[in-house]
Amino acid sequence: MLVCHCYAVNEAVIRECIARGARDEDDVAAACGAGSCCGSCMPTIWRLLGEGAEDGWPCQASARVVQSR
Ligand code: FES
Repeated sequence: MLVCHCYAVNEAVIRECIARGARDEDDVAAACGAGSCCGSCMPTIWRLLGEGAEDGWPCQASARVVQSR
């Protein structure tokens, strides 16, 4: 599912950013651009970040997300 239309970022990319250590919307934006333009995708990004929390996020990993696009 396409989440961020401004940067054509899909849900899988955002999940990967979170899995690699993105802890908030700023980390996600730095990693893939999602959420850094109009902001209309932020509720979905926050939901995905919240799902990570339910899975044990934030984890101990401190590695920064590498640009994946
Ligand atoms: S849709 Fe994501 S910043 Fe505009």
